[in-house]
Amino acid sequence: MTSVNDLRSSFTGYFAKNGHEAVASSPLVPRNDPTLMFTNAGMVQFKNVFTGVEKRPYSTATTAQKCVRAGGKHNDLDNVGFTARHHTFFEMLGNFSFGDYFKDQAIELAWNLLTRDWALPKAKLMVTVYEDDDEAMELWKKIAGLSEDRIVRLGAKSNFWQMGDTGPCGPCSEIFYDHGDKIWGGPPGSADEDGDRWIEIWNLVFMQFEQHPDGSRSGLPHPSIDTGMGLERIAAVMQGVHDNYDIDLFRALIGAAANATNADVNGPGNRSLRVIADHLRSMSFLIAEGVLPSNEGRGYVLRRIMRRAMRHATLLGANEPVIHKLVPTLVREMGQAYPELARGEAMIAETVRLEEGRFLKTLGRGLQILEAETANLGEGDVLDGATAFKLYDTYGFPLDLTQDALRMRNISVDQAGFDGAMAQQKAEARKNWAGSGEAATDTIWYGISDKVGPTEFLGYETETAEAEIRILLANGAEVNAIAAGEEGLVVVNQTPFFGESGGQVGDSGVIRGEGVVAEVLDTNKFHGVFAHKVKVVEGVLKPGLAVELIVDHERRSSIRANHSATHLLHEALRIVLGDHVAQKGSMVSADRLRFDFVHTKPMSQQEIAEVEDIANAIVLQNAPVETRMMGVDEAKESGARALFGEKYGDEVRVVSMGEPNGNGLGWSVELCGGTHVRRTGDIGLVSVVAESSVAGGVRRIEALTGKAARHRGNANTNIVASAAGLLRSGTHEVLERIEALQDQIKKAERALVDARQKLAMGGGAADGGNASETINGVTFAGRIVDDLQPKDLRGLVDQTKKQIGSGVVAIVGRAEDGKAGIAIGVTEDLVGRFSAVDLVKAGAAALGGQGGGGRPDMAQAGGPDGAKAEDALAAVRALLN
Ligand code: ALA
Repeated sequence: MTSVNDLRSSFTGYFAKNGHEAVASSPLVPRNDPTLMFTNAGMVQFKNVFTGVEKRPYSTATTAQKCVRAGGKHNDLDNVGFTARHHTFFEMLGNFSFGDYFKDQAIELAWNLLTRDWALPKAKLMVTVYEDDDEAMELWKKIAGLSEDRIVRLGAKSNFWQMGDTGPCGPCSEIFYDHGDKIWGGPPGSADEDGDRWIEIWNLVFMQFEQHPDGSRSGLPHPSIDTGMGLERIAAVMQGVHDNYDIDLFRALIGAAANATNADVNGPGNRSLRVIADHLRSMSFLIAEGVLPSNEGRGYVLRRIMRRAMRHATLLGANEPVIHKLVPTLVREMGQAYPELARGEAMIAETVRLEEGRFLKTLGRGLQILEAETANLGEGDVLDGATAFKLYDTYGFPLDLTQDALRMRNISVDQAGFDGAMAQQKAEARKNWAGSGEAATDTIWYGISDKVGPTEFLGYETETAEAEIRILLANGAEVNAIAAGEEGLVVVNQTPFFGESGGQVGDSGVIRGEGVVAEVLDTNKFHGVFAHKVKVVEGVLKPGLAVELIVDHERRSSIRANHSATHLLHEALRIVLGDHVAQKGSMVSADRLRFDFVHTKPMSQQEIAEVEDIANAIVLQNAPVETRMMGVDEAKESGARALFGEKYGDEVRVVSMGEPNGNGLGWSVELCGGTHVRRTGDIGLVSVVAESSVAGGVRRIEALTGKAARHRGNANTNIVASAAGLLRSGTHEVLERIEALQDQIKKAERALVDARQKLAMGGGAADGGNASETINGVTFAGRIVDDLQPKDLRGLVDQTKKQIGSGVVAIVGRAEDGKAGIAIGVTEDLVGRFSAVDLVKAGAAALGGQGGGGRPDMAQAGGPDGAKAEDALAAVRALLN
């Protein structure tokens, strides 16, 4: 038997042998398409190569491409389990020519693979061509030797292929396989074509046109080829089974599901087993790519898939989480071809288990309600929308799950009633919303959110993506264009730009479209809508335009590193300072990070060093940084740090990093919506550069990471080296030398003071040596000296007192900065007559100062105005009169 794995490599090997580049599957979340929800065909990653916008170093290629058709234009979710061939996840094998070969070689390559390498009997094959494609008709006759009755001409509905509403397209030719007369059905184009006997196995698209949004079509630069073959279908053919779910891969998955639920593979639960096997693949591949279950966009499609599978597990009698147990089987079957599955195995299983736990809590009660509400309904009846909404809102039943549950009984759901109930709930929420205070802003953004829905954020996984412009704003109002030189806000359907929140700044970068380039200066988020603040550099932005959004990678990398470092510092602070360290705020930008936390006293140098060491030890672990979606309570139970008093949604992102200390999800575990490094090593280095107080009991540390930290370290090293140069010493002696210099300076200062005092005493003072005078029979020695500190005045006063024996001494010292000090001494014999305190107050007042203090025999004061030194002496003299 040819296994699925053998077939995959046989296909790509065949085309590689024929000169094709074997290219890896692109992600399920397309990076290069503005509106496509999931990659749904092999050609998606080559879309821009076909149109000539993108160049690759090869002109032919082959792939096995993972595809999801659930949500969006191609949605097969509801059919899975009910048919032999519908899947939410499947693999498309394909070969591509970008202006290299065209129809003839495409047909020849396909025919040879099927009939020679894989030895399918020609009699079992038939083809279709587009109705007026005579060329293809002739080629099939010539190359395959098919007679005309085995080549069917069909119209555009089946034989003109387009990826979506826009993009490359062209007429196609499909190859059908006959599963034999035991199965009902007729060949393509016949009355019985809807039967299951003739199955399309390969679609060869002759890419010739590009479909534009305005409905027009232009020619591609070169005719090209895009083919697609469903791996599961061809595996069924090659393994001699009719049903895709009977191929080896599905038998293994269904077997594992049957084991886990104790179900009988051939019993009535077979349909549920198929659903589980199919959905297991799509959920695991999506989670491996970082899509997590949520209530918006792609995350919600994933949730719908997961919950549908979970309900089917309960139909099989499981009332414990079981689907996560099937992940290892899937990894065994597909992990070699898709290493991301093997790498993500633990993470995938855990995400599934968490979602199962969450949903099982309400599933039973929801099913009871569903049963009670539909007890009296029969075939053809309709369940009211309000009940369906209650199941959605309170019990987490996506609408399609309710529909799925009732499908067997032929009961439908009043979708309009469901939508009405949803709209009413939104209106209530808006009424009760407290608002940010900026009523006008809130109104605008609520309106925009209603009109275009929330923006899907792709920036956890990618820094570039294509999107479609939904709304433009300038000066607070919607506009139809923003032209070169103008500024405004751009809203798109999906974006890799992070909108400022949770202390992390918004991203900047570039938006490009046909003929237009705009610089993104900042990104904000209002009610789930991302607003890109732009300045248009060239061309004109218009709603509806397809654009490429490119985040400034270097800046984002620094922001990531700073954000992850904030988590590490938070945990390190708790370890060093204690568990009272609670986060009070944070700011993460590209240049630096700031973290405010509860702690009553300044951190010592040693504590700071310890915190830095601990954080850097985790950086050196180079451990992966992981993100999970969890219920808030569940997250808190797992020990995740949260901001006290912060309002979180029902579900939160939980970011963990570093090897766990014992149990737990990681060394640091926090609720966080920010963007982070992939591994702690990407932080490079954490360096704390400041510690300060922000408010009573709240401290702030500031830190740098990576290049900024290294640059700062280097700058400091350079300062030390320059200092050593100036000191003419080695760098290791710098401190010693500075201390020695400081000592030297102190001694020199002391000597200078002594010299000045001596000079003053010796008559060299600023008053020209006018030693003393007699006022009212009292000796008065009044002097002005320069450059003596106030503290040095007292010594001079004492000495002068001794010199004159009896009298009053007043010395004004003028400092370099223009201020002055005054000291007064009164000899013992005169203390009864004069108080030094009174005298000094008068002197100080003249210097523009207030007060003065001391004892009756010695007092001191100061004033700002040294120029009034003479006036100060005069004021003292006046009191002696
Ligand atoms: N792109 C073509 C398809 O999906 C091959 O059928």
